[in-house]
Amino acid sequence: MDAPSPRSKTEISGGAHATRQHDSAHKHVTGSADYIDDMPEPAGTLHGYLGLSDRAHAKITSLDLDAVRAADGVIAVLTAADVPGSNDISPSGRNDEPVLATGTVLFHGQPVFAVIAESREKARRAAKKAVFCYEDLPHVTDVRAAMDANYPLVTDPLKLERGDIEAGLAGSPRRLQGEMRIGGQDHFYLEGHIAFAIPGEDDEVTVWSSTQHPSEVQHMVAHALGTVSNAVTVQVRRMGGGFGGKETQSNQFAAIAAIAAKKLNRAVKIRPDRDDDMIITGKRHDFVVDYDVGYDDSGVIHALDASFAARCGFSSDLSGPVTDRALFHADNCYFYQDVRLVSKPMMTNTVSNTAFRGFGGPQGMLGGERIIEEIAYALGRDPLEIRKANFYGGPGRDITPYHQTVKDNIIARVVEELETSSDYQARRAGIIAFNETSPVVRRGIALTPVKFGISFTATWYNQAGALVHVYQDGSIHLNHGGTEMGQGLNTKVAQVLAEEFQVDLDTIRITATTTGKVPNTSATAASSGTDLNGMAAANAAQQIKTRLVAFAAEKFNIPEDQVAFEPNHVRVGNELMPFGDFIKLAYQERVQLSAAGFYKTPDIHWDRASGKGRPFYYFAYGAAVSEVSVDTLTGEYQVDRVDVLHDAGKSLNPALDIGQIEGAFVQGMGWLTTEELWWDDKGRLRTHAPSTYKIPLASDRPKIFNVKLADWAENREPTIRRSKAVGEPPFMLPISVLEALGMAVASIADYQVSPQLDAPATPERVLMAVERLKAMVTEAYVSGEDEADA
Ligand code: MTE
Ligand code: MOS
Repeated sequence: MDAPSPRSKTEISGGAHATRQHDSAHKHVTGSADYIDDMPEPAGTLHGYLGLSDRAHAKITSLDLDAVRAADGVIAVLTAADVPGSNDISPSGRNDEPVLATGTVLFHGQPVFAVIAESREKARRAAKKAVFCYEDLPHVTDVRAAMDANYPLVTDPLKLERGDIEAGLAGSPRRLQGEMRIGGQDHFYLEGHIAFAIPGEDDEVTVWSSTQHPSEVQHMVAHALGTVSNAVTVQVRRMGGGFGGKETQSNQFAAIAAIAAKKLNRAVKIRPDRDDDMIITGKRHDFVVDYDVGYDDSGVIHALDASFAARCGFSSDLSGPVTDRALFHADNCYFYQDVRLVSKPMMTNTVSNTAFRGFGGPQGMLGGERIIEEIAYALGRDPLEIRKANFYGGPGRDITPYHQTVKDNIIARVVEELETSSDYQARRAGIIAFNETSPVVRRGIALTPVKFGISFTATWYNQAGALVHVYQDGSIHLNHGGTEMGQGLNTKVAQVLAEEFQVDLDTIRITATTTGKVPNTSATAASSGTDLNGMAAANAAQQIKTRLVAFAAEKFNIPEDQVAFEPNHVRVGNELMPFGDFIKLAYQERVQLSAAGFYKTPDIHWDRASGKGRPFYYFAYGAAVSEVSVDTLTGEYQVDRVDVLHDAGKSLNPALDIGQIEGAFVQGMGWLTTEELWWDDKGRLRTHAPSTYKIPLASDRPKIFNVKLADWAENREPTIRRSKAVGEPPFMLPISVLEALGMAVASIADYQVSPQLDAPATPERVLMAVERLKAMVTEAYVSGEDEADA
């Protein structure tokens, strides 16, 4: 037998826990990564453009499309009457979202018809020629107005309750009430929505869609075409960002492209421009949080009664689960003795809001953190002390408002390490000293924690499949149900597979997600892509390995435990065979070298009616310290330094995880600072381009940005290689930026008055808060009760 080759002593390149670059990184930066609009178009490809309502709420009394039909290059104009199947793409099953509106329009910008023309430009010009007549109906656009007008809820509200809230509040030594307004956010993915439908034989159609949820697009297209799922194939190689905005919002473009493609028997592509994309598609929900909290002199919360009302838009979409997740995160890291949390998913005459990184969790958590901040200002203490006083703890202090016991709590350790490594205490003291003598520039610092629940609260979504083929030459084809949107899912799943087979990462080819290979997939969402699909891929590999081991044992007449997968080789007794040679042999001996893997998350359950269960398999933790400086004459500010310590369990790929943390931080910072959505009194979204909607620039990044993984962390649950999901949890770390801005503002009144900055804290809003506090100080001085000096 051969002596082991030197190669066998080395490691494979890029297995589990290895730092590897994103598989498409070089293609992203050189422009060779193909997006749907880069695909070669079949001869005769047509282009669609959508005609939108220009009323927020109105009956369409007539719609004259003659001029549109007559316009240059127009091949067809489609309305709701052209939808051969069901005119509905509601993902909630409530039948409240038409492909194309008919009768009444419910928001300004709702698609009413589609022009299909020889070029995108011709379709776009033609769409402007429609003549609408409307009978206006009353409309509301914001949450308070919807509540005042007694507008309906778009879906059933949720209540989470534990203990006796009335007694808890009445018995608390101190109490405060308040309101916080939290703005929404546009996804601003770099690649906008797009769908490209290619008709096939009979009722068949293939749709390339920029979607996080190919299976749902498949079902919606089938539904709209009046056919069955097996006629429709949906494919996606990658998205240029999704961030939740492509969980359901791709359905409409895909359905219209497919309807047109089948009707005209030509390939049809639809890609709205940026303004239309922002006007037509849902965003993060704005919230109004009302709270009543009872606490004691040491800042410990005894009772909390809070409601979370959200701007859901005209239809239910995902507003039910989004507002549920807000409640699930209103506790963040804190134990509430007596608690009642209710959601109010308000209907409004605006675009139907949808998933966005954190899925309502950030809004819920921000409400909870605002309460901590309020208590801290009321007691004249550092909010960090109040946080620590309320952390979940041992038995008796470890139950969430949804009755799940927090078993994996590491927040105290994360916060303690970060507090030390960032030199928080000394810097805070320095900032307070600085503010005492600085007339214009004021600084602030805050440390905020994150605990984020991992799993879909729709329990059946917690499943995944994968399809793995090993070819005769030893190269491996990987397909799974998840979608790549830049987060590095494909790289991580390939690493898992490389580890299973003990082959170099480049042995594995990642292929486009398609409903034809892995069926009934869940949206790539809730940060669970790697948890679910990584497990499914490992399962597929294990099936193939089991067959290979049995084959080798029989063939070489050795016990199964003498067959082992070693780096790029397979050990058979004393012989070490190159992986490819071994596979060739197995093929010749007719071993099946392909497997479909499957995984479902164990031990989770959720009963929404009673508000009890274990909706989350585990929690991911993290904390951030942010320092800012504010120009109190203009309201302008900058983020000077950020330190993050984040828990990704035993990280599958530290480079990708740190990338997710940095990206999530900056995106969350944008949400809380500069990104402001604004609807006018006619219900028109006036911030629908980068000219009016300000996402963070490279120059807005924290000037010092130290991001570290808690390298000691390990998932206590048997997740894929003990890692933790990382896509969404760090999005909430920049709550520390908002609170630091608040501190800088509060310095105006010597930290005696809570700054109550709503989000986003635009420079305008910061300046208004500064002016409000300055006026309070002046008034107190004039009336002789100088509170600022008290
Ligand atoms: N990272 C990039 N680069 N682009 C994205 O669109 N989406 C985020 C997050 N990170 C996103 C991203 C959201 S909203 C989720 S839910 C997760 O990635 C989804 O992927 P995962 O489950 O594989 O983490
Ligand atoms: Mo992410 S909001 O769950 O797509």
